Amino acid sequence: MNAAAPAPKENQGQPVPRIDGRLKVTGEARYAADFPLNNLAYAVLVTSSIARGRVRQLHLEAARSVPGVLDIVTYGDMDGVKPPTFGTVGATSLGPLHQQEIIHDGQIVALVVADTFEAASEAALRVRADYDEQPASASLSSGGTETIEAAGKSKMYKEDPKAGDFEAAFAGSQTRIDAEYHTASETHNPIELFSTTCAWNDGKLTVYEPTQNLWGFKAEVARQLGIDAASVRVVSPYVGGGFGSKGPMTPRTAIVAVAARRLNRPVRCVVTRMQAFTTTTYRAETRHRLRLGAGADGKIQAFGHEGWELTSRSDDYVVGGTDTTARMYGYGAVMTKVRLVKADRQTPGYMRSPPETPYMFPLESAMDELAAALGMDPIELRRVNDTMKDPVSGKDYSSRSLMACYDAAAQAFGWSRRDPKPRSMRDGEWLIGWGCATATYPTHIGAGTARIHLSSDGKARVAVASHEIGTGVRTITAQMAAERFGIPVENVSVDMGDSRLPPAPVSGGSNSTATICSTIIKACDAIRGKLFQAVAGADNGPFAGLQSRDLDIRDGKVVASDGGSLPLEDAFKALGAGAIEEYAEFVPEGAPKDAVQKLYNGQTTLIGGSHGKKVMYAFGAELVEVRVNARTREIRVPRMVGAFAAGRIMNTRTARSQLMGGMIWGMSSGLLEATEVDERNARTVNRDLQNYLVPVCADIDQVEVIMLPETDNEVNPAGVKGLGELGNVGTNAAVANAIWHATGKRVRHIPIRLEDLLA
Ligand code: MOS
Repeated sequence: MNAAAPAPKENQGQPVPRIDGRLKVTGEARYAADFPLNNLAYAVLVTSSIARGRVRQLHLEAARSVPGVLDIVTYGDMDGVKPPTFGTVGATSLGPLHQQEIIHDGQIVALVVADTFEAASEAALRVRADYDEQPASASLSSGGTETIEAAGKSKMYKEDPKAGDFEAAFAGSQTRIDAEYHTASETHNPIELFSTTCAWNDGKLTVYEPTQNLWGFKAEVARQLGIDAASVRVVSPYVGGGFGSKGPMTPRTAIVAVAARRLNRPVRCVVTRMQAFTTTTYRAETRHRLRLGAGADGKIQAFGHEGWELTSRSDDYVVGGTDTTARMYGYGAVMTKVRLVKADRQTPGYMRSPPETPYMFPLESAMDELAAALGMDPIELRRVNDTMKDPVSGKDYSSRSLMACYDAAAQAFGWSRRDPKPRSMRDGEWLIGWGCATATYPTHIGAGTARIHLSSDGKARVAVASHEIGTGVRTITAQMAAERFGIPVENVSVDMGDSRLPPAPVSGGSNSTATICSTIIKACDAIRGKLFQAVAGADNGPFAGLQSRDLDIRDGKVVASDGGSLPLEDAFKALGAGAIEEYAEFVPEGAPKDAVQKLYNGQTTLIGGSHGKKVMYAFGAELVEVRVNARTREIRVPRMVGAFAAGRIMNTRTARSQLMGGMIWGMSSGLLEATEVDERNARTVNRDLQNYLVPVCADIDQVEVIMLPETDNEVNPAGVKGLGELGNVGTNAAVANAIWHATGKRVRHIPIRLEDLLA
């Protein structure tokens, strides 16, 4: 892989290296479990060894006898504490110690606290439970599940998108695809483990926990514990990978808080990698029926997409990717339906590109099948069906550069040399396949707040309670302020990751760059306005007779359109102050008026995607080469090319890393990742990184990322669409399509493993 960042193009920001890069590589960056605290006690979770039933009795004597054990929190100890709320901040409503019923494998049954981590671990191993076990349903194909329609049942899902008479249009189509697809459960494995550290001081609680949602987390912890939100502080300056897993409230946080309160000393719980498989959220298993009907020209006349999604007995979490697939192309009639299948598993949740990764797989696979049935090039089929209008609502896209992405990716990939016939390209014993698929992600934005301080020496400080989850948001925050103030990036410091700072939305739905940059523009412009007002219209000096709007700041000077300039320091002198501080609240067009108040109460309202006046999405094209060994069926991916258009790119270096990481994860979704659950007892089998396959460098050779300039002034003041969750969408289908091209075998499930290619 080539490490050099590309040169900036029009509307693309500088490839500024991460401002916290040095702290991270030297180990100085503090993650939640790194904070040294006096008199810290260590806690270890005990989890159930059944998936469904009841804990009849817990035997704690052996655990209590381990030297150093301080306390065991279990049933009966959570009185007065409310369970989490299922909804925007919680992906579960399960308070695991509120009930002795077990509803999923590895459910928390106790928390052991000791003087040392080793003593707590040893004692946790000695806790024994007697269970009344019942048969458990593991998956979509198990008996004993319950199927319900998502619309009208789940508070996460309003209605199934539809348009026109699908059945008639489908029946009347000349070429029809009608196929079933399946995607596996996947488990988040951020390198930073999940952890909670709680410290009480005079009735006030500080929680150190990696989170993508500081203010939401703070409000929810307070609600569960029945204390004032003002008494809770959440500290999370760096997050070692979130991907959605650190967005929702966890079932363990309140338990750790209770343990710390009982002992009157700080308690830290680092969840083991194995326990993380069952005590956090994960990507739901999904099944799909996808129908496409087209005319001889390739125009799609009928689109039907039905999804079945696994969820828990307790909560109706919805993936709901039809919101995106229903408006992806210029279809005629549209029919969609989402159903939930309730099984004995913990509640699933957000996992990078939550709806799009599993729902675009069937659509983009079916598009490839349709192209083959029509004898058409798969990129040309997308061109024929490209649209600037959402077929469901009739609204226009704010911008859509899908075909420009395909053209750029095809050029870089050498797609014109592709022989369309499957099994036609070969290199010795390796069958070569080239496949493509569309990437997309809705453009989201929320209300935001920020405080910015600019001093006369040209140094700025930005304070915003957003989250550095590895995407580089700290860096683009500094860049935006530097750009607005005409100062070097090095002159901007950024405070983030603490609920004492002004609230920002949850770092989810790829909204952070758009929201934070739009908020910073507003705060910076308030400061610029004050400065300009102080120096414009003076009787003499460089800006005599000029107005604020004629002024700008560049290179540490206030400059006028007519060439006059004044050092920043002198402008501050004219103002009679050494510094200006501004607090700004940004509410995007179309957001509820009380969106900022909601933010302070811990609720993020994200808007955009299909829901605004215009339909807003980022797009990309994923082109993949696979090589399948003709004898062993081993599948390799020597190269991928992705071309993406996502409005203004704030930083081509961090954006490229996001897109490249996403593409590799998308390849992994196609070939490697699956949470394996035992059909007999609904227990998770591959609960570690030896058995849960994640990609390593040897799994991919060349990854080329192309970022196309795109200007979209309608999405938000920053013109940013966001791309954290764009790169891994469609890659799984591109891999499957390439495997079909290599082998002639159409595999309609992921991950695809060599055993799928044996017959
Ligand atoms: Mo992202 S999975 O919306 O945190």
